[in-house]
Amino acid sequence: MGPAKVKLHVVTNNAKKGEEAVKILESLGVEAELVLLEKKEIQSEKLEEIALHSARTAYLTLRKPLVVDDSGLFIEDLNGFPGPYSSYVYKTIGVKGILKLMEGAPTRKACFKTALAVIIPPIEKVYVGETCGTITTEPRGTGGFGFDPIFVPEGEIRTYAEMSTEEKNKVSHRAKAYKLMVEDLRKTWRGIL
Ligand code: IMP
Repeated sequence: MGPAKVKLHVVTNNAKKGEEAVKILESLGVEAELVLLEKKEIQSEKLEEIALHSARTAYLTLRKPLVVDDSGLFIEDLNGFPGPYSSYVYKTIGVKGILKLMEGAPTRKACFKTALAVIIPPIEKVYVGETCGTITTEPRGTGGFGFDPIFVPEGEIRTYAEMSTEEKNKVSHRAKAYKLMVEDLRKTWRGIL
């Protein structure tokens, strides 16, 4: 007999990110529930470490199977800034501040990266998804959240914020990390998701 099927709790303090993640999981056939929790985030240069620490902290409160994702925008011309400091930078200088920093930049290349930590005892793992693209010169679109209005994924002409959630989920860094996780857990622990 394999393990019992698990309902995954998507833990975040960002409702929009959580709703996006629940849709990704549902499209993969995984039962998911959004749990909004204030996060106590450590400061680290590695998204993987931040995500794992947040997941372990959330587990102490929730004691249920859960995922936490930590994401960042890595801009080539800014040597990877804001990267792991993206939420602080978003709160302080925001989209406008990033566009200002990039005035006259020789390249507008950037990558979004998600580190996704899952805890289903005894399983504890982190998966990484990345989508590269370019930073626009002006914000465009009203969908999504965070830096979505200034990021155009490779092969697209629209920003994430100009796409529906379903369209963003076909190409996004977050969706890639979730797909990797679901495939890996299903392969190793048949029947768990
Ligand atoms: P965190 O993963 O919640 O720590 O997010 C870091 C920062 O990046 C926050 O300001 C988010 O708004 C932003 N962010 C995270 N994921 C995305 C995304 O998919 N699109 C745009 N901005 C994002």
